[in-house]
Amino acid sequence: MNVPLLDLKPQYQTFADELRPVLEKICADQTFILGPSVKSCEAALAAYCHVPHAIGVSSGSDALIVSLMAAGIGPGDEVITTPYTFFATAGAIARVGARIVFADIDPDSFNLDPALVEARITPRTRAILPVHLYGRLADMAAFEAIARKHNLVLVEDACQAIGAEDAQGRRAGSIGDYGCFSFFPSKNLGCFGDGGLVTATDPARAHRVEIMRNHGMEPQYYHHCIGGNFRLDALQAAVIECKLKYLDGWSAARQTNAKRYVKLFAEAGLSQVVLPTPGPGRHVYNQFICRVPRRDDLVAYLRAHGVGCAIYYPVPLHVQECFADLGYKAGDFPEAERAARETIALPIYPELSDDMAAYVVQTIADFYAAP
Ligand SMILES: Cc1ncc(COP(=O)(O)O)c(C=O)c1O
Repeated sequence: MNVPLLDLKPQYQTFADELRPVLEKICADQTFILGPSVKSCEAALAAYCHVPHAIGVSSGSDALIVSLMAAGIGPGDEVITTPYTFFATAGAIARVGARIVFADIDPDSFNLDPALVEARITPRTRAILPVHLYGRLADMAAFEAIARKHNLVLVEDACQAIGAEDAQGRRAGSIGDYGCFSFFPSKNLGCFGDGGLVTATDPARAHRVEIMRNHGMEPQYYHHCIGGNFRLDALQAAVIECKLKYLDGWSAARQTNAKRYVKLFAEAGLSQVVLPTPGPGRHVYNQFICRVPRRDDLVAYLRAHGVGCAIYYPVPLHVQECFADLGYKAGDFPEAERAARETIALPIYPELSDDMAAYVVQTIADFYAAP
């Protein structure tokens, strides 16, 4: 049997007929940049994320960059974040000229550990940038308290977590000053290329992001500040709005798949595999990340037996070559380094069948049973 890590083709068939005429209309109208399709998508996303303002942008990476720019963060400022995330989180801080300050993760959630953040605050600290990694919310109540106490901007990297909630039912992107989302195709809500979103509750912050995504321009050819071309295009907006209706169903299927893995692993007696915990709120499982012994051998074995899997992220950011000048070294963040060494992502996409999940677990059982 072949079980891919992710297969978007069955999902496409569920909405293809509905989407085609919408795309056709945009092509017929030739309205590709911003315009009504983007406005309507933004309104739907704002409602979904429980925020008053949502601004479509060109990618999750640009959502992070324009949020930091809009907050006025730049050279001389420090931003605290996690070393165990996709590169774009920290890359955005460097791109605006600020200094990246890392703190280690909590080993259970894989998210930035608030208990370790306060010690990293200096007079130059301007923001905290937690990531809701793999679809589970970071401890936002703790980060809110720290941000309030030290008067810091709170930016949520919610790129992997659209629809995730904390224990109080607060949605990803609705808690911090800015929420940053990605619609990269492999995300739970993916478009047909690159796309992103910034959410905000404060109207002035939202307005600044809105004009900065279009070169700080308002009205046309009058520039208040220096932004960039961070615009979401109309075709991507139409795809996102069409797919949004299905998102809760897909997230529920991911949760069902996670529960099925828990049962299958228990039945197989595979106690050496540490499964992800859902946490206190609504985990949307963009990835299903397990800690496993002999990780690299298991990856090779699974691939040889037709099971798609991946390693997120093999090299923590504090030891990436491009950040060498920050002065970090191996050993500085033991939990991030352990997660990078021990974890594997297994297929969790909504259309994964019972048979496929059983095959994944059986193949892992075979690997550990071999002498
Ligand atoms: C945690 C995180 N932050 C930022 C990004 C960047 O998003 P994009 O690929 O849309 O630029 C991603 C996506 O890969 C991500 O997973």
